[in-house]
Amino acid sequence: MKAVRDETSAPEPVRPPLKWAGGKRWQVQHIEGFWRPESHRRLVEPFAGGLAVALGLLPKKALLNDINPHLVNFYRWLKKGLVIEEKFDHNEKAYYRARKRFNELLRQEKHDTAEAAGLFYYLNRTGYNGLCRFNRSGGFNVPFGRHPQLTYKADFSEYAEAFKDWELSNVHFSELKLNDDDFVYADPPYDVEFTKYSKDGFSWTDQLAAAEWLSRHKGPVILSNQATDRILEEYKRLGFQLRTLDAPRKISCTGDRSPAVEVLAILNLPA
Ligand SMILES: C[S@@+](CC[C@H](N)C(=O)[O-])C[C@H]1O[C@@H](n2cnc3c(N)ncnc32)[C@H](O)[C@@H]1O
Repeated sequence: MKAVRDETSAPEPVRPPLKWAGGKRWQVQHIEGFWRPESHRRLVEPFAGGLAVALGLLPKKALLNDINPHLVNFYRWLKKGLVIEEKFDHNEKAYYRARKRFNELLRQEKHDTAEAAGLFYYLNRTGYNGLCRFNRSGGFNVPFGRHPQLTYKADFSEYAEAFKDWELSNVHFSELKLNDDDFVYADPPYDVEFTKYSKDGFSWTDQLAAAEWLSRHKGPVILSNQATDRILEEYKRLGFQLRTLDAPRKISCTGDRSPAVEVLAILNLPA
């Protein structure tokens, strides 16, 4: 698996290295047609998460941002050609030992080390559902994940080529500086209309601020979200063209198997 970029054909996509909630690998086929004629531009992802879209499109230039510092630290080490020396075992005891060590590094302010990046990869793969969750005192607290079988990658040097001209950033989206000609793919946390809590600390006010910010961008924008009534209303009001898509089926904790409907809100791109 090698990231090949030539001018004549679409590059071979690269597999995202982490499991990430809300991963959009399935959307790449819907975005590709918009992106390809614009691929001379810089791709900006303000909510980059598991990087499924950037690794699917493989732009030459990109600005990839996420508010999660551990995720961005892992990517910074991928860019340097991460090779994990430690041999990881797939069992509960080894998992809790690794989790303890990771939290020790956070307490010692060594969260930006290669060791922290390697442990983050192991915890993401081995923990429950690839979750990334912290307790009030900042400790990673995801339990062991009971997967039947797991293998671990040690040599991530294949990612260094893709990441070579990609800028990584770890700020709140509102601090991100866009160039007028950037192509923005934005995938904020889902709007959850019928619950009072804001998912991942991302409130309705944040949803509105993100949508308004992007509606003012002069270059192409694709904004993805759950197609709730208020999201559709707001994106339409801001002048986006809307395209709804059936997301792949996932069994939710309530046993509901109906596919979620998602929306791509599109601006400054041919329909
Ligand atoms: C739905 S996920 C993105 C998934 C990504 N498109 C993928 O394919 O894996 C949303 C991401 O937004 C990040 N996020 C949440 N609040 C943010 C904020 N205020 N600024 C920047 N990123 C934020 C989360 O850490 C999460 O990784």
